[in-house]
Amino acid sequence: MEQQKLLELLGEMSLDEKIGQLFQGNGSFYEGDSIATGPASEQGFSEQTIREAGSVLSVVGAGNVKQIQKAHMEKHPHHIPLVFMADIINGYRTVFPIPLAQGAAFNPQVAKTGAQVAAKEASAAGVQVTFSPMVDLVRDARWGRVMESTGEDVYLNSVYAGALVEGYQGDDPKKPGKIGACVKHFAAYGAPTAGRDYNNVELSERTLRDDYLPAYEAALRAGALLVMTSFNTLNRIPSSANKWLMRQVLREEMGFKGTVISDWAAIEEIMYHGAAMDRKEAARLALEAGTDIDMMTTCYANYLKELIEEGKVDEKLLDEAVLRVLELKNKLGLFENPFKDADEEAEKELLLCADHREKAKEAAKETFVLLENNGILPLKKEEKVAFIGPYTEEKAIIGAWSIFAREEDAVSIEEGVTAYGGNAIFEKGCELISEGASIQGMNRLYTGTGMAENREKKLLKAVKAAKEADKVVLCIGEHMAQTGEAASRGDITIPENQITLLEKIAEVNQNIVVMLFSGRPLDLRKVKTLAKAILVVWMPGTEGGSAIAEVLYGETPPSGKLPMSFPYAVGQVPVFYSEFHTGRRMDPAHPENRFQSRYMDIPNEPLYPFGYGLSYTEFSYSVVTLSKTELIRGGELKASVLLKNVGKSRGSEVVQMYIRDDVGSVARPVRELKGFQKLWLNAGEEKEVSFTITEDMLKFHDINMNNIAEAGKFTVFIGSDSRTQNQAEFVLK
Ligand code: NOJ
Repeated sequence: MEQQKLLELLGEMSLDEKIGQLFQGNGSFYEGDSIATGPASEQGFSEQTIREAGSVLSVVGAGNVKQIQKAHMEKHPHHIPLVFMADIINGYRTVFPIPLAQGAAFNPQVAKTGAQVAAKEASAAGVQVTFSPMVDLVRDARWGRVMESTGEDVYLNSVYAGALVEGYQGDDPKKPGKIGACVKHFAAYGAPTAGRDYNNVELSERTLRDDYLPAYEAALRAGALLVMTSFNTLNRIPSSANKWLMRQVLREEMGFKGTVISDWAAIEEIMYHGAAMDRKEAARLALEAGTDIDMMTTCYANYLKELIEEGKVDEKLLDEAVLRVLELKNKLGLFENPFKDADEEAEKELLLCADHREKAKEAAKETFVLLENNGILPLKKEEKVAFIGPYTEEKAIIGAWSIFAREEDAVSIEEGVTAYGGNAIFEKGCELISEGASIQGMNRLYTGTGMAENREKKLLKAVKAAKEADKVVLCIGEHMAQTGEAASRGDITIPENQITLLEKIAEVNQNIVVMLFSGRPLDLRKVKTLAKAILVVWMPGTEGGSAIAEVLYGETPPSGKLPMSFPYAVGQVPVFYSEFHTGRRMDPAHPENRFQSRYMDIPNEPLYPFGYGLSYTEFSYSVVTLSKTELIRGGELKASVLLKNVGKSRGSEVVQMYIRDDVGSVARPVRELKGFQKLWLNAGEEKEVSFTITEDMLKFHDINMNNIAEAGKFTVFIGSDSRTQNQAEFVLK
């Protein structure tokens, strides 16, 4: 539809109809082709609000979507279609590894392919917009939602943000098999105080601009159609009511012209934050701040009319917001094609098809991170291997947000290894959730199913299996439901019963590979002392078990690197590599000096740093060479190394380039990732790897809050992880 037509439509709409466009309810309001009046009125919504709603969330299934859309459009005074939105995070029915794992691949193509597959499946099932990507920078492993992000690094997150949006939307979200992307959670939701979900965020403006905003910007540059506000306050102001954030930063500075949607009930929560007296004031603040859609509350629906009629809110603000919703529908082609790709036949064909499963497996293989290996891996097919632990048969390995997928479609380790032909036996050893305990997941309750009286028996069987085996692969970790939204943990260790299992097994067989399932960095001190190899497999998705088998047996070597530092202990958190020097720099040669920035009882360094990860082979790096030692503004220089596979097998390395601005008008991070390249080399093969450095890469918010690169000396580091000391220096004139 032409813009002029949209404006005409807007002009014809009544006040109620316009307000309706800003309301988003979920499926509980719709029963087939009619409106479920019960839930609507219980929650304070009138039937009219639902009838005139602009969008709906979490309704999926081609038949369902078509039926609701048809009935809605027939009853709507101007026959305006709904937009169907849903949380399609790491897959719809075929599930890829969780986003944090995708970050570990250090290969944005993995995320792009995942988003393409998700878009194909979800669009066939009627979804038109996904609430993804979440690009919040995450540095506190206690926060459950770190699993939804690609990690702690500004650059890595930004590259992935762009790739995900491109994957979902392609070059035009209107096209078949594409869906609109909604980048979230604006802003800085990933920095809740003390890692507790929904908690307040205190950040300096400089940290916000230098570290937190770039990934959202990258998603917008890639064309994301929507932005979702965050639950948190930012420097005391709830995001959905933050005029400076939404109007100045997002719209003026970043130039965002799309639609802003509140997070679930976030407008009403302005009141609970204590920043509005009541829902009516919350509605006014949110609309004034530029929040267009009210997800799941009555604030806009019940109070905007009054506010406008009383002259407290300018109708122009409403019109602007409504126009942005209509424009969104137009960008998705809904006026011409309100069902978009919803198609029962396509659903049958695409969901979990062989091609999607294969892609999910290839993706998963790239995300595993090998933290330790004394040569015990890869496994050999003739070896007798005991796979022990609660994760051997577990299918809840698809990640907390896979709410439209089915766990039973996932390949467990037992299934994957058996199909691969490993000489293996499987014993659970202990339960993932203790007998009688339960964990509330996103959309179901997980209850421990084991019988307490079998506890000892299970353990004995596992110990016996370990004794008789050449090697043990211990499949342990946190439960999927211990990660994700509202899953903050104060203690980031592996559950105690699984550590006991590890200890018991170690008494009879020391050839232990620990395979770790997790949605966050965990404290692995104990594991490190008892395991000869540690492979982090995160929540690997639908093809987890088959991907794991191929990596364990060496068909594909592991190639992931940590996208978040694994702390030594929870007391270090938030711990991240791009920290700042203090005025009391720690001198490792003199740990006895008291007055340095350090802990008395634990080291400053994480157990495993950002960017770290081993392969089955080894690589050597030459020194860093620079094409010149002076960078002229507007010019570029090349930094290179020669990378050689000096081991005995083919493998992959992620060559990482970090830059430090040695002195600035404000303190600068000790180093920042500015480039990476993932390469596969055969044994003995070598390759020159070069990075181009430009003035733009050196910019930061200076003492006057200008985004500039300051003249002076810079150090460039190129190596295997964020600790590399392989360096050279250049000067920016
Ligand atoms: C709340 C979550 O914070 C957000 O990420 C999600 O998209 C919405 N709920 C909708 O389900």
